Amino acid sequence: MEPILETDNLWKIYHIGKVDSPALRGVSLQIMPGEFVAIMGPSGCGKSTLLHVLGGLAQATRGSVLLDGNDLSNMQDAERTQIRRCKVGFVFQRFNLLPTLDVRGNIRLAQHIYGNEFDPHRFEMTTNVLGLSHRLHHRPSELSGGEQQRVAIARAIINEPKILLADEPTGNLDTANSDAVLALLRQLHRDLGQTIMMITHNPEAAAYAGRVIHMRDGLIVDGIPA
Ligand SMILES: Nc1ncnc2c1ncn2[C@@H]1O[C@H](COP(=O)(O)OP(=O)(O)O)[C@@H](O)[C@H]1O
Ligand SMILES: [Mg+2]
Repeated sequence: MEPILETDNLWKIYHIGKVDSPALRGVSLQIMPGEFVAIMGPSGCGKSTLLHVLGGLAQATRGSVLLDGNDLSNMQDAERTQIRRCKVGFVFQRFNLLPTLDVRGNIRLAQHIYGNEFDPHRFEMTTNVLGLSHRLHHRPSELSGGEQQRVAIARAIINEPKILLADEPTGNLDTANSDAVLALLRQLHRDLGQTIMMITHNPEAAAYAGRVIHMRDGLIVDGIPA
């Protein structure tokens, strides 16, 4: 079995004025199909940067990123964007829903951007799994935070991405809504085999994952005692 994601000695250096600020300092990892991996580590250690580079939202400074066998590190922006749209679903702490569209419209838009024909079966299955069937004609402002995040997750998986990348998906939610969103991610993983990589600060959230990767100062530090 080939990894869905594979990086080797990945660096990301931000240039701020004349100062070089390395956010990733040689990260090597593999994510296999069907894995649910949590990323933990202190604020500023490079978790979001890693997720952005792995998902093709940002370009690495050095090192390769293989996404489902495609090497993102040598691609121009347009090509990387294309691959990302086919292969990756993103969920962020902020839900980023379009306020003028209802739930159905927000999810349909993601299919449209991908260039997909409307797939009623996939749409129904996704909205059912995420418990949104009775909310399809509501706008985001009429939904709870937990419901909005469920719409964001539906939007992220509607095109059957190879991997779902989630950056603190419960960071804006109260405990009850957090638990519901985490239970859903676990269900997507267990029942649909969705490969997931999730950044979290919450040890309980990390416990949902099959593997936890710990980062510090732009590096993976697994094996180093706390
Ligand atoms: N767009 C950016 N420009 C410059 N520096 C950045 C940018 N994004 C992140 N950084 C810096 O890179 C480091 C890692 O940030 P980030 O990946 O957001 O960490 P985390 O998600 O673990 O909190 C931090 O020092 C942060 O200030
Ligand atoms: Mg972050």
